[in-house]
Amino acid sequence: MKPDTILVLDFGGQYAHLISRRIRENGVYSEVVSFGISYDDISNLSEKFNVKGLILSGGPSSVYDQGSPKISRSILESKLPMLGLCYGHQLLSYVFGGNIKKASKKEFGHTLAQITKPIAILNKLNRTEKVWMSHGDTVYSMPSEFETLATTDNCPVAAFRHKVKPIFGIQWHPEVAHTVNGNLILKNFIFDICKCENNWQPTNFIKSAINEIKQTVGNEKAIIGLSGGIDSSTTALLASKALGKNLVAVFVDHGFMREGETEEIKKIFKNSGINLIIADAKKQFLTKLKGVKDPEEKRKVIGNEFIKVFEKIAEKVKATYLLQGTIYPDRIESGSTANADKIKTHHNVGGLPSKMKFKKIVEPLRDLYKDEVRNVAEELSMPINMARRQPFPGPALAVRIIGEVTEEKLIIVKKADKIVREEIEKSNLTGNLWQYFAILTDTKTTGVKGDSRAYGYTVAIRAVESKEAMTANFAKLPYEVLEKISTRITNEIPEVSRVVYDVTHKPPSTIEWE
Ligand code: XMP
Repeated sequence: MKPDTILVLDFGGQYAHLISRRIRENGVYSEVVSFGISYDDISNLSEKFNVKGLILSGGPSSVYDQGSPKISRSILESKLPMLGLCYGHQLLSYVFGGNIKKASKKEFGHTLAQITKPIAILNKLNRTEKVWMSHGDTVYSMPSEFETLATTDNCPVAAFRHKVKPIFGIQWHPEVAHTVNGNLILKNFIFDICKCENNWQPTNFIKSAINEIKQTVGNEKAIIGLSGGIDSSTTALLASKALGKNLVAVFVDHGFMREGETEEIKKIFKNSGINLIIADAKKQFLTKLKGVKDPEEKRKVIGNEFIKVFEKIAEKVKATYLLQGTIYPDRIESGSTANADKIKTHHNVGGLPSKMKFKKIVEPLRDLYKDEVRNVAEELSMPINMARRQPFPGPALAVRIIGEVTEEKLIIVKKADKIVREEIEKSNLTGNLWQYFAILTDTKTTGVKGDSRAYGYTVAIRAVESKEAMTANFAKLPYEVLEKISTRITNEIPEVSRVVYDVTHKPPSTIEWE
């Protein structure tokens, strides 16, 4: 059965993908598509999805900027319900003849909205609502076929609707948690206006993903690089259901895994019935990374070596397809979705060499967010400690050693990471944490150990709370736990003379240091 679907037209806003996530959380399928999509494109999509409505995301442009993204006429003329948010709100106003100007003041952060008409998308809202704004341009008036539903001090038309057609605009961001009743607005749109059914679960995806893999790979063989992380492990389980013995999983032991992890992965996968090959490539990776300091270069080198190992084994086992555990945020941050800026090359996306020897790369999880992948993993009966394990980057500890990766530094970061994990897990703090780990910085500082001077490494601790890794807050860990970690690291690792705690959110920082 085709799922009822809301398409989010991406105008380049940092929250475009959050909108889609929020809709999925309400049990309705959603995809992010390029702003330039035409009605014909949507009709083509209707083979797979029952498109019931469109949300126009925010974006950094002004509708008056030259070349600013616009919406296709064919879509405007369609009967599909449409909700514009922020830039989307301004754009709908612009194309329908509203009056938009630069606001006297740029509005950013919390604002109180006066809900003058709590109807349609604003149904059941209070007369005054705490909302979150981030905009420069403002809609001052709309033509007579529209009516204003809400205002703020700076926005005379903070929300509008067409009097007859299902067209709506809201200046604020209902998708961010700071807008108190944001989800109510999204629900009003998707259920009352678009009449979607809430019958989508990430686990519905299992059947279609297995089919997709079967159809793409056919009777040929496919290979998957197993990192031991949740994404590649889930992909392997899906692919094994689709391909059986025609799937070959390769665990590349590059030597950058956390302490004890390689053994654990070998154990779990050897028991799962998956055709597993373990490739010992520790020396090869370290040699190739010699002298490489730049993080992007590191990712590329690692991506290249991975592929070389794969290609060799693929040739041996005669595999023609490569499966990867790429998920949605990897694609967004590697700049491979429309309009998003490149933040860093996730090794399993942009780090790949351009001339692959495989017929195709298959990425069944490409549209899922991490916690959706976890649900799928549990549904596939992945052991709970595996399904709930904290995310770990593909290039592994190599991107947690700032600067050149050496054998000595690997030993240090592994020990420090083990201590961080042990202390946080012992304190029962893991429930709220997305990730917690150690980074070996390239800064050496003076210390004093016993009665003598020590000149050693600085280890940084990072612990963050997050829902989907797109944004994150540093965790306010109790001082006692930080103290325990710091004391143990400096006592147990003689090469380290200082421990610091990273107190930066994402943005502006990313979660990993490189
Ligand atoms: P950042 O550092 O970009 O990380 O805020 C977001 C999430 O992605 C993980 N991460 C990676 N995962 N390959 C991966 O498979 C990579 O190259 C990579 N870099 C970061 C990171 O651990 C966090 O959960």
